[in-house]
Amino acid sequence: MAPSAERGSAPTTTVTITGAGGQIGYALLFRIAAGEMLGPDRPVRLKLLEIPQGLRSAEGAALELQDCAFPLLREVDLTDDPTVAFDGSSIALLVGARPRGPGMERADLLAANAGIFGPQGAAINAHAADDIRVAVVGNPANTNALIAAASAPDVPPDRFTALTRLDHDRALGLLAEALDAWPDEIEGLAIWGNHSATQFPDVSHATVRGERVADALGARLGGRVEACAWLDDVFIPRVAKRGAEIIEVRGSSSVASAANAAIEHVRDEQSGTAWTSAAVISRGEYDVPEGLVCSFPVASDGTGYRVIEGLEIDTRARTRIDASVDELAAERDAVRALGVL
Ligand code: NAD
Ligand code: LMR
Repeated sequence: MAPSAERGSAPTTTVTITGAGGQIGYALLFRIAAGEMLGPDRPVRLKLLEIPQGLRSAEGAALELQDCAFPLLREVDLTDDPTVAFDGSSIALLVGARPRGPGMERADLLAANAGIFGPQGAAINAHAADDIRVAVVGNPANTNALIAAASAPDVPPDRFTALTRLDHDRALGLLAEALDAWPDEIEGLAIWGNHSATQFPDVSHATVRGERVADALGARLGGRVEACAWLDDVFIPRVAKRGAEIIEVRGSSSVASAANAAIEHVRDEQSGTAWTSAAVISRGEYDVPEGLVCSFPVASDGTGYRVIEGLEIDTRARTRIDASVDELAAERDAVRALGVL
């Protein structure tokens, strides 16, 4: 349903959300329509993509969107056809995919979900607006982004990113608790590698209220050795396995925190940030093989995420980054073997 005339002078941004009838979709739609992703001055048209079985649920969400009477929401379209869903799209959040259950790794979803992202990449290639930016949430997110980008040869590859903002925020939350600080007092934290248990949450460049995190941890925990032990044995595994912890406690995978991270990921890419984490297509930065979708510390000037270069990487960090990058290469090889790439 659309009003009979455009209102105001600001152009309307078309945002496509796949899997809009699912859990994360439900947690995303209302915040986007309220202006939390693109700001209070940018009206939005939402295009919701679902498979036929999910359409009814998305339809219910569309009815509720209408009932919120959001002033920024210009239109809501619902479809099970990717060519319609991505038509004129400037921002696409690729959420629709099967989530993992207890005891599974995200890579176990490769075969189930890989087939979704090729056709969607092709539809983006053929139908999206010239300024399209794509953020992949559905797991395994890095490799799904790789598949989508490879299926969209006319779209610059750097328009495709995958979410590791949730890992970044989890790391901030756990570190803030350990340091008795507020999350926004911590700067320079980075997630490297895959959105998986091999990821490397890295505090070596991080500060808290201007003090190096390693020193602040040492002061609280009784020394440098204790701080290193806490980082290796508690912090890194807890962040890397937080998704599984949530599944175990809730009985299903993260929803509101994932939607929050997706909104922050797009918001900061669009409005600019000096430092966060996101998975982007490697151009060989930090010796990560070109073409893999790998998480790095990134910045945006509002035109897209760029890897922050020139950081010193010590041997221990290198080993962890290499392990996660090896996993990304193995996932790429696995989808090649499935004939998807
Ligand atoms: P969900 O099962 O509640 O919803 C998924 C929706 O996608 C369903 O409504 C389903 O019908 C739809 N869908 C399936 N195939 C589709 C297709 N081809 N096109 C359009 N829609 C399709 O799952 P959820 O909890 O919303 O999670 C969605 C995905 O996000 C999962 O893969 C999950 O693992 C992933 N996830 C990623 C992160 C992250 O940080 N990257 C965090 C949490 C969850
Ligand atoms: C998460 O990190 O919470 C998501 O990727 C869901 C999952 O499977 O862990």
